[in-house]
Amino acid sequence: NPTILLPADIYPNRRNSAGVDLADPTVRGPLLADLDRLEKREWDENVEAGSAREVRSPQDRRKVLGHVHDATEAEIDDMFARALAAQPAWDAMGGLKRAALLDKAADLFEQHTNEFISLCQREAGKTAIDGILEVREAVDFLRYYACEARMLFGAPQPMPGPTGEENLLRLHGRGVFVTISPWNFPLAIFTGPAAAALAAGNTVIAKPAEQTPLIAALATHLCHEAGIPEDVFHLAPGDGKVGAMLTSDTRLSGVAFTGSSATAHAINRNLAAREGAIATLVAETGGQNAMIVDSSALPEQVTRDVMASAFQSAGQRCSALRVLYLQDDIADSMLEMIRGAFEALVIGDPADLATDVGPVIDDEAKEKLEAHIAEMKAKGNTVWQRELPPYCDHGSFVPPTIIEVDSISELEEEHFGPVLHVARFPAARLAETVDEINAVGFGLTLGLHSRIDAVRRLVESRARVGNLYVNRNQIGAVVGSQPFGGEGLSGTGPKAGGPHYVSRFATERVTTVDT
Ligand code: NAD
Ligand code: ALA
Repeated sequence: NPTILLPADIYPNRRNSAGVDLADPTVRGPLLADLDRLEKREWDENVEAGSAREVRSPQDRRKVLGHVHDATEAEIDDMFARALAAQPAWDAMGGLKRAALLDKAADLFEQHTNEFISLCQREAGKTAIDGILEVREAVDFLRYYACEARMLFGAPQPMPGPTGEENLLRLHGRGVFVTISPWNFPLAIFTGPAAAALAAGNTVIAKPAEQTPLIAALATHLCHEAGIPEDVFHLAPGDGKVGAMLTSDTRLSGVAFTGSSATAHAINRNLAAREGAIATLVAETGGQNAMIVDSSALPEQVTRDVMASAFQSAGQRCSALRVLYLQDDIADSMLEMIRGAFEALVIGDPADLATDVGPVIDDEAKEKLEAHIAEMKAKGNTVWQRELPPYCDHGSFVPPTIIEVDSISELEEEHFGPVLHVARFPAARLAETVDEINAVGFGLTLGLHSRIDAVRRLVESRARVGNLYVNRNQIGAVVGSQPFGGEGLSGTGPKAGGPHYVSRFATERVTTVDT
Protein backbone atom coordinates (compact mmCIF):
# COMPACT_ATOMS: atom_id res chain seq x y z
CA ASN A 1 0.00 0.00 0.00
CA PRO A 2 1.33 3.48 -0.79
CA THR A 3 2.14 5.53 2.30
CA ILE A 4 -0.11 8.56 2.53
CA LEU A 5 1.69 11.44 4.17
CA LEU A 6 -0.45 13.85 6.13
CA PRO A 7 0.58 17.49 6.63
CA ALA A 8 1.27 16.61 10.27
CA ASP A 9 3.92 14.10 9.12
CA ILE A 10 5.61 16.54 6.80
CA TYR A 11 5.43 19.57 9.06
CA PRO A 12 5.41 18.05 12.56
CA ASN A 13 5.70 21.30 14.51
CA ARG A 14 3.48 23.50 12.42
CA ARG A 15 0.22 24.84 13.82
CA ASN A 16 -2.03 27.41 12.22
CA SER A 17 -2.37 30.63 14.16
CA ALA A 18 -5.09 30.61 16.81
CA GLY A 19 -6.25 34.13 15.90
CA VAL A 20 -8.44 36.15 18.25
CA ASP A 21 -11.60 34.74 19.84
CA LEU A 22 -14.10 37.59 19.64
CA ALA A 23 -16.71 35.48 21.46
CA ASP A 24 -14.59 35.65 24.62
CA PRO A 25 -15.40 38.91 26.48
CA THR A 26 -12.02 38.90 28.26
CA VAL A 27 -10.36 39.02 24.82
CA ARG A 28 -12.91 41.24 23.08
CA GLY A 29 -12.95 44.02 25.69
CA PRO A 30 -9.20 44.78 25.66
CA LEU A 31 -9.09 44.41 21.86
CA LEU A 32 -11.85 46.98 21.38
CA ALA A 33 -10.19 49.36 23.85
CA ASP A 34 -6.91 49.01 21.99
CA LEU A 35 -8.58 49.57 18.59
CA ASP A 36 -10.15 52.72 20.03
CA ARG A 37 -6.72 53.97 21.11
CA LEU A 38 -5.14 53.05 17.75
CA GLU A 39 -7.95 54.85 15.87
CA LYS A 40 -6.25 58.13 16.75
CA ARG A 41 -2.76 57.08 15.71
CA GLU A 42 -1.23 58.60 12.59
CA TRP A 43 1.03 56.32 10.50
CA ASP A 44 3.80 57.97 8.54
CA GLU A 45 6.06 55.88 6.35
CA ASN A 46 9.43 57.16 5.21
CA VAL A 47 8.05 60.70 4.74
CA GLU A 48 11.41 62.25 5.54
CA ALA A 49 12.72 60.67 2.30
CA GLY A 50 10.83 63.15 0.13
CA SER A 51 7.37 64.02 -1.10
CA ALA A 52 4.64 62.33 0.89
CA ARG A 53 1.28 61.12 -0.31
CA GLU A 54 -1.79 61.10 1.94
CA VAL A 55 -3.48 57.81 2.76
CA ARG A 56 -7.20 58.10 3.47
CA SER A 57 -9.84 55.72 4.84
CA PRO A 58 -12.26 54.16 2.35
CA GLN A 59 -15.08 54.47 4.91
CA ASP A 60 -14.52 58.18 5.40
CA ARG A 61 -12.51 60.03 2.78
CA ARG A 62 -12.23 63.06 5.07
CA LYS A 63 -9.91 61.09 7.38
CA VAL A 64 -6.19 61.09 6.67
CA LEU A 65 -4.65 58.19 8.54
CA GLY A 66 -1.09 58.64 7.42
CA HIS A 67 1.42 59.49 4.73
CA VAL A 68 3.70 57.48 2.53
CA HIS A 69 6.66 58.26 0.32
CA ASP A 70 6.45 56.31 -2.95
CA ALA A 71 9.64 54.76 -4.32
CA THR A 72 11.42 56.81 -6.99
CA GLU A 73 13.35 55.49 -9.98
CA ALA A 74 16.69 56.20 -8.25
CA GLU A 75 15.55 54.43 -5.07
CA ILE A 76 14.42 51.39 -7.08
CA ASP A 77 17.77 51.28 -8.82
CA ASP A 78 19.49 51.31 -5.43
CA MET A 79 17.18 48.56 -4.10
CA PHE A 80 18.06 46.27 -7.01
CA ALA A 81 21.79 46.91 -6.53
CA ARG A 82 21.58 46.10 -2.82
CA ALA A 83 19.25 43.12 -3.26
CA LEU A 84 21.51 41.63 -5.93
CA ALA A 85 24.61 42.04 -3.76
CA ALA A 86 22.91 40.54 -0.70
CA GLN A 87 21.43 37.47 -2.41
CA PRO A 88 24.39 35.05 -2.43
CA ALA A 89 24.91 35.32 1.33
CA TRP A 90 21.17 34.99 2.02
CA ASP A 91 21.05 31.89 -0.19
CA ALA A 92 24.17 30.43 1.42
CA MET A 93 22.66 30.90 4.88
CA GLY A 94 20.56 27.77 4.26
CA GLY A 95 16.96 26.84 4.90
CA LEU A 96 17.22 26.27 8.65
CA LYS A 97 18.46 29.77 9.47
CA ARG A 98 16.07 31.48 7.06
CA ALA A 99 13.20 29.48 8.59
CA ALA A 100 14.11 30.68 12.07
CA LEU A 101 13.88 34.31 10.91
CA LEU A 102 10.51 33.72 9.22
CA ASP A 103 9.21 32.06 12.39
CA LYS A 104 10.42 35.03 14.43
CA ALA A 105 8.60 37.38 12.05
CA ALA A 106 5.42 35.30 12.51
CA ASP A 107 5.71 35.68 16.30
CA LEU A 108 6.14 39.46 15.95
CA PHE A 109 3.13 39.67 13.61
CA GLU A 110 1.04 37.90 16.25
CA GLN A 111 2.30 40.28 18.95
CA HIS A 112 1.24 43.23 16.77
CA THR A 113 -2.16 41.77 15.88
CA ASN A 114 -4.13 44.75 17.19
CA GLU A 115 -2.12 47.28 15.16
CA PHE A 116 -2.67 45.20 12.05
CA ILE A 117 -6.41 44.88 12.71
CA SER A 118 -6.61 48.63 13.23
CA LEU A 119 -4.74 49.34 10.00
CA CYS A 120 -6.82 46.78 8.07
CA GLN A 121 -9.96 48.57 9.24
CA ARG A 122 -8.75 52.09 8.61
CA GLU A 123 -6.64 51.66 5.48
CA ALA A 124 -8.53 48.83 3.72
CA GLY A 125 -12.03 49.21 5.23
CA LYS A 126 -12.00 45.65 6.62
CA THR A 127 -14.25 44.46 9.43
CA ALA A 128 -12.63 43.22 12.65
CA ILE A 129 -13.27 39.60 11.63
CA ASP A 130 -11.57 40.15 8.28
CA GLY A 131 -8.69 41.96 10.01
CA ILE A 132 -8.19 39.00 12.36
CA LEU A 133 -8.27 36.58 9.42
CA GLU A 134 -5.64 38.69 7.62
CA VAL A 135 -3.21 38.42 10.51
CA ARG A 136 -3.84 34.70 10.89
CA GLU A 137 -3.25 34.02 7.21
CA ALA A 138 -0.06 36.10 7.11
CA VAL A 139 1.29 34.28 10.18
CA ASP A 140 0.31 30.92 8.68
CA PHE A 141 2.11 31.74 5.42
CA LEU A 142 5.28 32.69 7.31
CA ARG A 143 5.29 29.50 9.36
CA TYR A 144 4.27 27.21 6.50
CA TYR A 145 6.97 28.54 4.20
CA ALA A 146 9.48 28.34 7.07
CA CYS A 147 8.69 24.60 7.21
CA GLU A 148 9.23 24.38 3.46
CA ALA A 149 12.57 26.16 3.83
CA ARG A 150 13.68 23.57 6.40
CA MET A 151 12.49 20.68 4.29
CA LEU A 152 13.67 21.76 0.83
CA PHE A 153 16.80 23.79 1.53
CA GLY A 154 18.48 21.57 4.10
CA ALA A 155 20.54 18.57 3.05
CA PRO A 156 21.08 17.94 -0.69
CA GLN A 157 19.04 15.15 -2.21
CA PRO A 158 21.12 12.17 -3.44
CA MET A 159 20.06 10.93 -6.88
CA PRO A 160 20.73 7.42 -8.16
CA GLY A 161 23.61 6.68 -10.58
CA PRO A 162 26.01 3.90 -11.52
CA THR A 163 28.67 2.70 -9.07
CA GLY A 164 31.44 5.27 -8.84
CA GLU A 165 29.21 8.25 -9.53
CA GLU A 166 27.70 10.59 -6.93
CA ASN A 167 24.78 12.86 -7.87
CA LEU A 168 23.52 15.53 -5.53
CA LEU A 169 20.53 17.76 -6.19
CA ARG A 170 20.36 21.10 -4.37
CA LEU A 171 17.77 23.87 -4.43
CA HIS A 172 18.87 27.51 -4.44
CA GLY A 173 17.27 30.92 -4.63
CA ARG A 174 16.95 32.27 -8.17
CA GLY A 175 18.14 35.79 -7.37
CA VAL A 176 16.04 38.91 -6.83
CA PHE A 177 12.26 38.46 -6.74
CA VAL A 178 9.80 41.30 -7.20
CA THR A 179 6.51 40.71 -5.39
CA ILE A 180 3.46 42.80 -6.30
CA SER A 181 0.34 42.53 -4.19
CA PRO A 182 -3.28 43.75 -4.19
CA TRP A 183 -5.13 45.88 -1.64
CA ASN A 184 -7.78 43.27 -0.85
CA PHE A 185 -5.37 41.17 1.23
CA PRO A 186 -3.04 43.99 2.22
CA LEU A 187 -1.24 41.92 4.84
CA ALA A 188 -1.68 38.24 3.95
CA ILE A 189 -0.88 38.53 0.26
CA PHE A 190 1.79 41.16 0.81
CA THR A 191 3.45 38.70 3.19
CA GLY A 192 2.83 35.27 1.62
CA PRO A 193 4.66 35.52 -1.73
CA ALA A 194 7.49 37.54 -0.16
CA ALA A 195 7.90 34.93 2.58
CA ALA A 196 8.02 32.13 0.00
CA ALA A 197 10.63 33.96 -2.07
CA LEU A 198 12.72 34.63 1.04
CA ALA A 199 12.34 31.03 2.25
CA ALA A 200 13.78 29.84 -1.07
CA GLY A 201 16.89 32.02 -0.75
CA ASN A 202 15.90 35.00 -2.89
CA THR A 203 16.16 38.61 -1.93
CA VAL A 204 12.91 40.52 -2.38
CA ILE A 205 11.61 43.90 -3.48
CA ALA A 206 7.97 44.03 -2.42
CA LYS A 207 5.48 46.46 -3.92
CA PRO A 208 2.19 46.73 -2.05
CA ALA A 209 -0.94 48.13 -3.68
CA GLU A 210 -1.01 51.94 -3.76
CA GLN A 211 -4.12 51.93 -1.54
CA THR A 212 -2.52 49.99 1.34
CA PRO A 213 1.15 50.94 1.84
CA LEU A 214 0.95 51.48 5.62
CA ILE A 215 0.01 47.89 6.49
CA ALA A 216 2.85 46.73 4.23
CA ALA A 217 5.26 49.12 5.94
CA LEU A 218 4.44 47.72 9.39
CA ALA A 219 4.88 44.16 8.10
CA THR A 220 8.24 45.07 6.55
CA HIS A 221 9.48 46.73 9.75
CA LEU A 222 8.57 43.63 11.76
CA CYS A 223 10.40 41.37 9.28
CA HIS A 224 13.49 43.56 9.72
CA GLU A 225 13.05 43.48 13.49
CA ALA A 226 12.94 39.68 13.26
CA GLY A 227 16.43 39.75 11.74
CA ILE A 228 15.75 39.61 7.99
CA PRO A 229 18.35 42.12 6.74
CA GLU A 230 17.16 45.38 5.14
CA ASP A 231 19.21 44.61 2.02
CA VAL A 232 17.42 41.27 1.71
CA PHE A 233 13.85 42.58 2.01
CA HIS A 234 12.96 45.96 0.48
CA LEU A 235 9.66 47.84 0.46
CA ALA A 236 8.85 49.76 -2.73
CA PRO A 237 5.52 51.58 -2.26
CA GLY A 238 3.83 53.05 -5.31
CA ASP A 239 1.23 52.59 -8.00
CA GLY A 240 1.18 50.62 -11.25
CA LYS A 241 3.93 52.81 -12.72
CA VAL A 242 6.26 51.72 -9.93
CA GLY A 243 5.17 48.12 -10.62
CA ALA A 244 5.97 48.54 -14.31
CA MET A 245 9.36 50.04 -13.47
CA LEU A 246 10.16 47.12 -11.17
CA THR A 247 9.13 44.45 -13.65
CA SER A 248 11.16 46.06 -16.47
CA ASP A 249 14.44 45.72 -14.61
CA THR A 250 16.87 43.23 -16.11
CA ARG A 251 18.27 42.38 -12.67
CA LEU A 252 15.20 40.49 -11.49
CA SER A 253 14.94 36.69 -11.66
CA GLY A 254 11.26 36.36 -10.90
CA VAL A 255 7.98 38.12 -10.22
CA ALA A 256 5.24 36.93 -7.88
CA PHE A 257 2.12 38.90 -8.70
CA THR A 258 -1.36 38.84 -7.24
CA GLY A 259 -4.03 41.08 -8.73
CA SER A 260 -6.20 41.36 -11.80
CA SER A 261 -5.76 39.20 -14.89
CA ALA A 262 -5.28 42.35 -17.01
CA THR A 263 -2.28 43.44 -14.91
CA ALA A 264 -0.83 39.93 -15.04
CA HIS A 265 -0.93 40.13 -18.85
CA ALA A 266 0.78 43.56 -18.73
CA ILE A 267 3.54 42.19 -16.48
CA ASN A 268 3.98 39.15 -18.71
CA ARG A 269 4.46 41.46 -21.71
CA ASN A 270 6.91 43.58 -19.75
CA LEU A 271 8.97 40.56 -18.74
CA ALA A 272 9.02 39.24 -22.29
CA ALA A 273 10.20 42.58 -23.67
CA ARG A 274 13.22 42.93 -21.43
CA GLU A 275 16.70 41.52 -21.88
CA GLY A 276 18.52 39.58 -19.16
CA ALA A 277 17.71 36.28 -17.46
CA ILE A 278 14.39 34.71 -18.40
CA ALA A 279 12.21 35.46 -15.42
CA THR A 280 9.80 33.19 -13.58
CA LEU A 281 6.28 34.57 -13.27
CA VAL A 282 3.91 33.38 -10.57
CA ALA A 283 0.56 35.11 -11.14
CA GLU A 284 -2.51 34.69 -8.96
CA THR A 285 -5.37 36.58 -10.53
CA GLY A 286 -9.12 37.07 -10.68
CA GLY A 287 -12.16 34.83 -10.86
CA GLN A 288 -15.72 34.70 -12.14
CA ASN A 289 -16.74 32.27 -9.46
CA ALA A 290 -20.00 30.36 -9.47
CA MET A 291 -21.93 28.24 -7.01
CA ILE A 292 -24.29 25.49 -8.17
CA VAL A 293 -27.23 24.59 -5.92
CA ASP A 294 -29.44 21.62 -6.73
CA SER A 295 -32.76 20.57 -5.24
CA SER A 296 -31.15 18.22 -2.70
CA ALA A 297 -29.31 21.08 -0.97
CA LEU A 298 -30.21 22.24 2.55
CA PRO A 299 -31.76 25.72 2.16
CA GLU A 300 -30.60 27.17 5.51
CA GLN A 301 -27.05 26.07 4.84
CA VAL A 302 -27.15 27.44 1.28
CA THR A 303 -28.42 30.80 2.54
CA ARG A 304 -25.66 31.10 5.12
CA ASP A 305 -22.95 30.08 2.65
CA VAL A 306 -24.20 32.33 -0.14
CA MET A 307 -24.18 35.33 2.23
CA ALA A 308 -20.60 34.65 3.34
CA SER A 309 -19.34 33.83 -0.16
CA ALA A 310 -20.87 36.86 -1.85
CA PHE A 311 -20.90 39.58 0.80
CA GLN A 312 -18.15 38.94 3.38
CA SER A 313 -15.28 41.41 2.82
CA ALA A 314 -17.82 43.44 0.79
CA GLY A 315 -17.39 40.84 -1.95
CA GLN A 316 -13.78 41.92 -2.43
CA ARG A 317 -12.20 38.49 -2.43
CA CYS A 318 -10.89 36.86 -5.58
CA SER A 319 -12.60 33.71 -4.29
CA ALA A 320 -15.98 35.43 -3.80
CA LEU A 321 -19.19 34.14 -5.32
CA ARG A 322 -20.24 36.15 -8.38
CA VAL A 323 -22.88 33.93 -10.04
CA LEU A 324 -25.23 31.68 -8.10
CA TYR A 325 -26.81 28.94 -10.23
CA LEU A 326 -30.06 27.68 -8.69
CA GLN A 327 -31.84 24.58 -10.01
CA ASP A 328 -34.99 26.05 -11.53
CA ASP A 329 -37.58 24.11 -9.48
CA ILE A 330 -36.18 25.42 -6.15
CA ALA A 331 -35.00 28.82 -7.41
CA ASP A 332 -37.95 30.95 -6.23
CA SER A 333 -38.09 29.52 -2.71
CA MET A 334 -34.30 29.62 -2.37
CA LEU A 335 -34.16 33.22 -3.58
CA GLU A 336 -36.79 34.21 -1.05
CA MET A 337 -34.65 32.87 1.80
CA ILE A 338 -31.51 34.45 0.41
CA ARG A 339 -33.26 37.79 0.08
CA GLY A 340 -34.39 37.52 3.71
CA ALA A 341 -30.78 37.16 4.85
CA PHE A 342 -29.70 39.86 2.39
CA GLU A 343 -32.16 42.34 3.92
CA ALA A 344 -30.63 41.65 7.34
CA LEU A 345 -27.02 42.49 6.33
CA VAL A 346 -25.62 45.29 8.48
CA ILE A 347 -23.86 47.87 6.31
CA GLY A 348 -21.57 50.55 7.65
CA ASP A 349 -18.64 51.27 9.93
CA PRO A 350 -16.06 48.45 9.81
CA ALA A 351 -15.01 49.34 13.35
CA ASP A 352 -18.45 48.26 14.61
CA LEU A 353 -18.43 44.53 15.42
CA ALA A 354 -22.00 44.19 14.15
CA THR A 355 -21.08 45.31 10.63
CA ASP A 356 -21.28 42.68 7.90
CA VAL A 357 -20.49 44.84 4.85
CA GLY A 358 -18.04 47.73 4.90
CA PRO A 359 -16.88 49.98 2.07
CA VAL A 360 -15.22 49.04 -1.19
CA ILE A 361 -11.62 50.15 -1.52
CA ASP A 362 -11.99 53.49 -3.31
CA ASP A 363 -14.22 55.71 -5.41
CA GLU A 364 -12.90 54.24 -8.65
CA ALA A 365 -14.06 50.77 -7.57
CA LYS A 366 -17.39 52.20 -6.39
CA GLU A 367 -18.01 53.96 -9.71
CA LYS A 368 -17.19 50.82 -11.73
CA LEU A 369 -19.64 48.75 -9.69
CA GLU A 370 -22.33 51.42 -9.86
CA ALA A 371 -21.93 51.60 -13.66
CA HIS A 372 -22.36 47.81 -13.91
CA ILE A 373 -25.50 47.85 -11.74
CA ALA A 374 -26.95 50.75 -13.76
CA GLU A 375 -26.25 48.89 -17.01
CA MET A 376 -28.01 45.75 -15.76
CA LYS A 377 -30.99 47.83 -14.64
CA ALA A 378 -31.12 49.56 -18.04
CA LYS A 379 -31.10 46.16 -19.76
CA GLY A 380 -34.19 45.21 -17.76
CA ASN A 381 -32.62 42.60 -15.42
CA THR A 382 -34.36 42.20 -12.07
CA VAL A 383 -32.26 43.98 -9.42
CA TRP A 384 -32.63 44.00 -5.63
CA GLN A 385 -30.61 46.56 -3.79
CA ARG A 386 -30.16 47.64 -0.18
CA GLU A 387 -30.35 51.25 0.96
CA LEU A 388 -27.15 52.70 2.36
CA PRO A 389 -27.39 54.16 5.88
CA PRO A 390 -26.33 57.83 6.41
CA TYR A 391 -22.99 56.67 7.91
CA CYS A 392 -21.88 55.79 4.36
CA ASP A 393 -22.20 59.33 2.96
CA HIS A 394 -18.49 60.13 3.20
CA GLY A 395 -17.03 56.81 2.11
CA SER A 396 -16.74 54.50 -0.90
CA PHE A 397 -19.78 52.35 -0.20
CA VAL A 398 -21.74 50.27 -2.70
CA PRO A 399 -25.11 48.92 -1.58
CA PRO A 400 -25.24 45.11 -1.54
CA THR A 401 -27.04 44.10 -4.72
CA ILE A 402 -28.56 40.96 -6.24
CA ILE A 403 -29.09 40.83 -10.00
CA GLU A 404 -30.88 38.12 -11.97
CA VAL A 405 -29.06 37.05 -15.15
CA ASP A 406 -29.62 34.35 -17.76
CA SER A 407 -26.14 32.96 -17.49
CA ILE A 408 -22.57 33.72 -16.46
CA SER A 409 -21.75 34.59 -20.07
CA GLU A 410 -23.82 37.78 -19.67
CA LEU A 411 -20.97 39.19 -17.53
CA GLU A 412 -17.98 40.53 -19.37
CA GLU A 413 -15.63 40.92 -16.43
CA GLU A 414 -15.12 40.25 -12.74
CA HIS A 415 -17.31 42.66 -10.69
CA PHE A 416 -15.25 43.08 -7.56
CA GLY A 417 -17.68 44.07 -4.81
CA PRO A 418 -20.92 43.21 -2.98
CA VAL A 419 -22.85 42.28 -6.12
CA LEU A 420 -24.32 38.79 -6.52
CA HIS A 421 -25.74 37.55 -9.83
CA VAL A 422 -28.31 34.75 -9.87
CA ALA A 423 -29.09 32.40 -12.76
CA ARG A 424 -31.30 29.33 -13.09
CA PHE A 425 -30.59 25.92 -14.61
CA PRO A 426 -32.75 22.85 -15.30
CA ALA A 427 -31.55 19.66 -13.54
CA ALA A 428 -31.14 17.93 -16.89
CA ARG A 429 -28.55 20.53 -17.94
CA LEU A 430 -26.12 20.25 -15.04
CA ALA A 431 -23.18 19.17 -17.22
CA GLU A 432 -23.88 21.98 -19.71
CA THR A 433 -24.03 24.44 -16.81
CA VAL A 434 -20.56 23.40 -15.66
CA ASP A 435 -19.32 23.75 -19.26
CA GLU A 436 -20.88 27.23 -19.44
CA ILE A 437 -18.96 28.24 -16.29
CA ASN A 438 -15.73 26.74 -17.67
CA ALA A 439 -16.19 28.58 -20.95
CA VAL A 440 -15.72 31.96 -19.26
CA GLY A 441 -12.03 31.11 -19.00
CA PHE A 442 -11.47 31.87 -15.31
CA GLY A 443 -10.89 28.91 -13.00
CA LEU A 444 -10.56 29.97 -9.39
CA THR A 445 -13.33 28.78 -7.05
CA LEU A 446 -16.58 26.89 -7.53
CA GLY A 447 -19.19 26.17 -4.86
CA LEU A 448 -21.54 23.20 -4.98
CA HIS A 449 -24.47 22.48 -2.71
CA SER A 450 -25.82 18.99 -3.31
CA ARG A 451 -26.39 15.84 -1.29
CA ILE A 452 -26.15 13.59 -4.34
CA ASP A 453 -22.80 11.81 -4.80
CA ALA A 454 -23.25 11.45 -8.56
CA VAL A 455 -23.73 15.21 -8.86
CA ARG A 456 -20.59 15.86 -6.89
CA ARG A 457 -18.61 13.40 -9.01
CA LEU A 458 -19.87 14.98 -12.22
CA VAL A 459 -19.00 18.51 -11.11
CA GLU A 460 -15.64 17.44 -9.69
CA SER A 461 -14.60 15.71 -12.90
CA ARG A 462 -15.84 18.43 -15.24
CA ALA A 463 -15.09 21.74 -13.51
CA ARG A 464 -11.88 23.51 -14.47
CA VAL A 465 -11.23 25.29 -11.18
CA GLY A 466 -8.46 25.40 -8.63
CA ASN A 467 -10.69 25.18 -5.55
CA LEU A 468 -14.03 23.34 -5.39
CA TYR A 469 -16.03 23.75 -2.17
CA VAL A 470 -18.88 21.31 -1.51
CA ASN A 471 -21.69 22.07 0.95
CA ARG A 472 -19.93 25.07 2.51
CA ASN A 473 -18.96 28.60 1.59
CA GLN A 474 -16.24 29.16 -0.99
CA ILE A 475 -14.00 31.74 0.67
CA GLY A 476 -11.24 31.72 3.25
CA ALA A 477 -8.87 28.98 2.10
CA VAL A 478 -6.76 27.83 5.05
CA VAL A 479 -2.99 27.67 4.63
CA GLY A 480 -1.78 24.07 4.64
CA SER A 481 -5.31 22.65 4.35
CA GLN A 482 -6.75 24.25 1.23
CA PRO A 483 -3.84 25.24 -1.01
CA PHE A 484 -5.29 28.12 -2.99
CA GLY A 485 -5.07 29.29 -6.59
CA GLY A 486 -6.64 28.92 -9.98
CA GLU A 487 -6.04 28.10 -13.60
CA GLY A 488 -6.66 29.71 -16.97
CA LEU A 489 -7.37 33.44 -16.58
CA SER A 490 -7.16 32.94 -12.79
CA GLY A 491 -3.45 32.32 -12.64
CA THR A 492 -0.39 30.25 -13.30
CA GLY A 493 -0.25 28.26 -10.06
CA PRO A 494 1.38 26.88 -7.96
CA LYS A 495 -1.06 27.10 -5.10
CA ALA A 496 -0.38 29.49 -2.23
CA GLY A 497 -0.19 27.74 1.13
CA GLY A 498 0.45 24.38 -0.53
CA PRO A 499 3.38 21.98 -0.79
CA HIS A 500 4.42 22.96 -4.34
CA TYR A 501 4.58 26.72 -3.86
CA VAL A 502 8.05 27.47 -2.47
CA SER A 503 9.90 25.26 -4.95
CA ARG A 504 8.65 27.51 -7.81
CA PHE A 505 10.79 30.27 -6.31
CA ALA A 506 13.91 28.08 -6.43
CA THR A 507 16.33 26.88 -9.06
CA GLU A 508 17.75 23.34 -9.05
CA ARG A 509 21.45 22.55 -9.34
CA VAL A 510 23.00 19.10 -9.63
CA THR A 511 26.60 18.22 -8.88
CA THR A 512 27.89 14.97 -10.38
CA VAL A 513 31.18 13.61 -9.04
CA ASP A 514 33.04 10.70 -10.57
CA THR A 515 34.39 9.12 -7.40
P1 NAD B 1 -4.56 45.27 -9.81
O1 NAD B 1 -4.16 44.30 -10.87
O2 NAD B 1 -5.16 46.56 -10.23
O3 NAD B 1 -3.31 45.66 -8.91
C1 NAD B 1 -2.54 44.67 -8.25
C2 NAD B 1 -1.13 45.21 -8.04
O4 NAD B 1 -0.52 45.40 -9.32
C3 NAD B 1 -1.07 46.57 -7.35
O5 NAD B 1 0.02 46.56 -6.48
C4 NAD B 1 -0.84 47.53 -8.50
O6 NAD B 1 -0.19 48.73 -8.13
C5 NAD B 1 0.04 46.70 -9.40
N1 NAD B 1 0.06 47.11 -10.81
C6 NAD B 1 -0.91 47.74 -11.51
N2 NAD B 1 -0.52 47.92 -12.79
C7 NAD B 1 0.72 47.37 -12.90
C8 NAD B 1 1.65 47.21 -13.98
N3 NAD B 1 1.38 47.65 -15.20
N4 NAD B 1 2.82 46.58 -13.73
C9 NAD B 1 3.10 46.10 -12.51
N5 NAD B 1 2.26 46.23 -11.44
C10 NAD B 1 1.09 46.85 -11.64
O7 NAD B 1 -5.52 44.46 -8.82
P2 NAD B 1 -6.24 45.01 -7.51
O8 NAD B 1 -7.40 45.83 -7.94
O9 NAD B 1 -5.25 45.62 -6.57
O10 NAD B 1 -6.72 43.66 -6.80
C11 NAD B 1 -7.90 43.02 -7.10
C12 NAD B 1 -7.67 41.89 -8.07
O11 NAD B 1 -6.79 40.93 -7.49
C13 NAD B 1 -8.93 41.13 -8.41
O12 NAD B 1 -8.94 40.83 -9.78
C14 NAD B 1 -8.79 39.85 -7.59
O13 NAD B 1 -9.54 38.77 -8.11
C15 NAD B 1 -7.32 39.62 -7.64
N6 NAD B 1 -6.84 38.76 -6.53
C16 NAD B 1 -6.45 37.48 -6.80
C17 NAD B 1 -6.05 36.63 -5.76
C18 NAD B 1 -5.64 35.19 -6.01
O14 NAD B 1 -5.07 34.60 -5.10
N7 NAD B 1 -5.91 34.61 -7.16
C19 NAD B 1 -6.03 37.12 -4.46
C20 NAD B 1 -6.42 38.44 -4.22
C21 NAD B 1 -6.81 39.25 -5.28
N1 ALA C 1 -7.31 32.89 -0.05
C1 ALA C 1 -8.41 33.81 -0.11
C2 ALA C 1 -9.73 33.13 0.03
O1 ALA C 1 -9.76 31.92 -0.07
C3 ALA C 1 -8.34 34.61 -1.35
O2 ALA C 1 -10.73 33.76 0.20
